[in-house]
Amino acid sequence: MLRLEHVQKRFKDKVVIKDLSLEVHDGELLVLIGPSGCGKTTTLKMMNRLLPLSGGHIYVDGEDIAALDPVKLRRNMGYVIQQGGLFPHMTVRQNIEIIEKLEKRPKDEMTERTRSLMAMIGLDPEEYLDRYPAELSGGQQQRVGVARALATDPEYVLFDEPFSALDPPTRMALQDEVVSLHEKLNKTMIFVTHDMDEAIKIADRICLMKDGEIVQLDTSENILRHPANAFVSEFVGSGRIWSAPEFIRAQDIMIDHPVKCRGDLTVEGCIIRLQEYRVSSLMVVDKAGRLIGVVDKSVLIKRPKPDAQADAVMRPVRFSVHPEDQLIDIVKAIPPEDVGRINDIPVVDSENRLVGLVTNNNIVSKFIRPWLADTEADEEGRVTADD
Ligand SMILES: Nc1ncnc2c1ncn2[C@@H]1O[C@H](COP(=O)(O)OP(=O)(O)O)[C@@H](O)[C@H]1O
Ligand SMILES: [Mg+2]
Repeated sequence: MLRLEHVQKRFKDKVVIKDLSLEVHDGELLVLIGPSGCGKTTTLKMMNRLLPLSGGHIYVDGEDIAALDPVKLRRNMGYVIQQGGLFPHMTVRQNIEIIEKLEKRPKDEMTERTRSLMAMIGLDPEEYLDRYPAELSGGQQQRVGVARALATDPEYVLFDEPFSALDPPTRMALQDEVVSLHEKLNKTMIFVTHDMDEAIKIADRICLMKDGEIVQLDTSENILRHPANAFVSEFVGSGRIWSAPEFIRAQDIMIDHPVKCRGDLTVEGCIIRLQEYRVSSLMVVDKAGRLIGVVDKSVLIKRPKPDAQADAVMRPVRFSVHPEDQLIDIVKAIPPEDVGRINDIPVVDSENRLVGLVTNNNIVSKFIRPWLADTEADEEGRVTADD
């Protein structure tokens, strides 16, 4: 675990980090974000002792880093910077193996390790190992930068705005790559960015900084839902949650009072209610409010006997969701060929009591279309990325 306690940093008289305390959990991907100059890079560089602290302590697995050998510390803390930070006069292989060479690792072991690192970052060793950085695209250089940071199999990986100079499709592909490496490798990652979309996409938790202080530290969802103050809302962008469908839950978009009836309502009564509320279906509930079926307008058009009851003409509930279900999962559960013609989706609690309705209109127009459009763009991005 990485722990910062009352960390301060001054450059001459200028206080850059005021009093920063922070715990990075084992295995998490923590994003440090904030406006330019707020102290992100400074914080990262203090973690691997590229900069000394002016006050406070940083502990790695319980040990004060001030007491550790900086070279050993850095071996346990991969560091990825913009442009990959590769040495231009060295080949990809030499760049990746530089630290292992210093450690005089056996050659076979190194070759094997380098191959597996290349596989990990998705570059063909035959094709790329002997190239120089200038012979790689920006995205490929950045991938090699990641491989080099992983070469010593560190517990921690620090990223300082590694993708900010890349074009959007390449950046998106590399963000996906970081997420999948994080899932695979079980390393603790600290990722600096100033791009909120990037943060939302990759973070387990986001630490938002301003003027050398933490303004809010929480999950992406909580930051979007409950910004701590006006600065956070402004930075995050108001209404942002609506463009992050992964955080939208059924309760956010459902109507609270769906039009309903009891099973003993007559067909005539049903028709009157449907017309009165101008809806296309009635939710049928029992005495306890539990959902037992749905009466569709289409059934009523077939003119059942007027004194027949709702429970005789209703259809069973095909698909219902819970208030806390995420829209994205709901949408994924809908077969693609049905996307254009989904019925309203009843929302029920754990006792199957009807608590709301996600209307067809709401779900399709607000979310599914934009989401599908996004997904397509994403996949195109992946395909056209030059690496
Ligand atoms: N070596 C330095 N000497 C003096 N001031 C510095 C130095 N490095 C950074 N700063 C200042 O510290 C502040 C934080 O910088 P930095 O950590 O690079 O911000 P960020 O990475 O969030 O953009 C800025 O105001 C910057 O000008
Ligand atoms: Mg910086």
